[in-house]
Amino acid sequence: MNNPSIESGKVPAALGAAHYRMVAELADAAPENVLDPATNPAVVLSAQSLTKRFSEGPLNVSVLQGVDLQIRRGETVAIVGASGSGKSTLLHLLGGLDAPTSGAVQLHGRDLAHLRAAEQGRLRNRHLGFVYQFHHLLPEFSALDNVAMPLTIRRLAPMECAEAASKILAMVGLANRMQHRPSELSGGERQRVAIARALVTRPDCVLADEPTGNLDRSSADSVFALMLELAQAHGIALVLVTHDASLAARCKRQLQLVAGRLVSVR
Ligand SMILES: Nc1ncnc2c1ncn2[C@@H]1O[C@H](COP(=O)(O)OP(=O)(O)OP(=O)(O)O)[C@@H](O)[C@H]1O
Ligand SMILES: [Mg+2]
Repeated sequence: MNNPSIESGKVPAALGAAHYRMVAELADAAPENVLDPATNPAVVLSAQSLTKRFSEGPLNVSVLQGVDLQIRRGETVAIVGASGSGKSTLLHLLGGLDAPTSGAVQLHGRDLAHLRAAEQGRLRNRHLGFVYQFHHLLPEFSALDNVAMPLTIRRLAPMECAEAASKILAMVGLANRMQHRPSELSGGERQRVAIARALVTRPDCVLADEPTGNLDRSSADSVFALMLELAQAHGIALVLVTHDASLAARCKRQLQLVAGRLVSVR
């Protein structure tokens, strides 16, 4: 796991490395049984005055200019915006995969910036599912093992992990692709594996970055319907970044990133 090859070279190396680091941290983390009660149990994820500026070398890009957001249990929120407006950047901050330049993110009332890496990893594993824009599946593992990974990290029994993973893979239409590695899957199949991995733990909140961007209309509709169904059945909040207006319209709230700020679309 120290020098992983990154799936098909499509992803920024830094984010790929961060993902592998996260997996390694989670693997080291002790299982968690009880969490401190949150200040307001209905709020899963909360962000205040988030700004993000990339300023490495000659680069100086101010992407987010003061984002406030609260995600409540079970609600569905679409985030739309032009390419380059900062949607992926915002999701990474909400998921603790990157740190804001200023402002704060709380997951169940706990400020991510104040937690040690292992504790942050444990909170993420327990409460968040993430569908990356470029999937970030582990190339050495089968679809089944990729989906089972968050449960394996929780140290559930291998049989239990495999059963849950195969059940959800079947739900996204991949019953006959479980032993395939990511390189042996189509783009849309990889996307569905990534969605299955985010949902398999029944997290409190799924952060999904263009989760159906590689799927044809009818697969996108049915996979998204499944995400909504699972979200509703298990009280999972869903934060969806999308360019697809018809998917955005199926969410309870629609927000748009404009000039680094979130505005309500309806
Ligand atoms: N690591 C980085 N260093 C410098 N600039 C960055 C970095 N990551 C993102 N950016 C810049 O921040 C802006 C927002 O990027 P982001 O990936 O969040 O956009 P997006 O809204 O998700 O776009 P898309 O719809 O194309 O996926 C872009 O202009 C991008 O060039
Ligand atoms: Mg993006």
